[in-house]
Amino acid sequence: MVADLGCGPGRDLAVFTHAGVAAVGVDLSEQMLRLAQAAGGRTVTGDIRRPPLRPAVFHGLWSSAALLHVPRPEVAGTLRAWRSLLRDGGVLSLSTSLGDREGWEAAPCRSDYPPSVPLRRWFVHHDRDELLNLIAQAGFALRTVQKEPRRMTWLQVRAVAA
Ligand SMILES: C[S@@+](CC[C@H](N)C(=O)[O-])C[C@H]1O[C@@H](n2cnc3c(N)ncnc32)[C@H](O)[C@@H]1O
Repeated sequence: MVADLGCGPGRDLAVFTHAGVAAVGVDLSEQMLRLAQAAGGRTVTGDIRRPPLRPAVFHGLWSSAALLHVPRPEVAGTLRAWRSLLRDGGVLSLSTSLGDREGWEAAPCRSDYPPSVPLRRWFVHHDRDELLNLIAQAGFALRTVQKEPRRMTWLQVRAVAA
């Protein structure tokens, strides 16, 4: 069982689902969840800071471009909440942005997003080493860490519930 935390319109959730992986997407936006459902995903409305999911049952957590909307003081608690969802040995796959800023930013709408998604969103960019420390402190053992420069610089982290 995999949870896609901050699944948005369900692009990745649909890949899991169509590949035969039992997966559930979590997002706060009902509009996003409607798109995710239309793409074939199973969804739950909820806050990724405290995902409304059963603890210790997930084999994997996938989160792409969602932790970057969690206010910095709440990131450590969010990562601990994520750890509690995983079975021992379960895998976290996280993609989030690098940098030192926190604040409102213009965010271009993607064609698969509903038109009402605001053009400015709250972004929290992370220092690589500080974020890796928070992930380790939340109870994960780091496996792979990769930087990917695009419009923003992304950090892709794979870590295992220790
Ligand atoms: C940039 S989108 C990424 C969506 C998807 N993971 C992807 O890669 O296409 C960020 C998503 O996180 C959701 N989100 C932001 N903060 C959230 C929170 N605290 N709880 C649940 N969802 C949240 C937004 O509604 C949005 O769908």
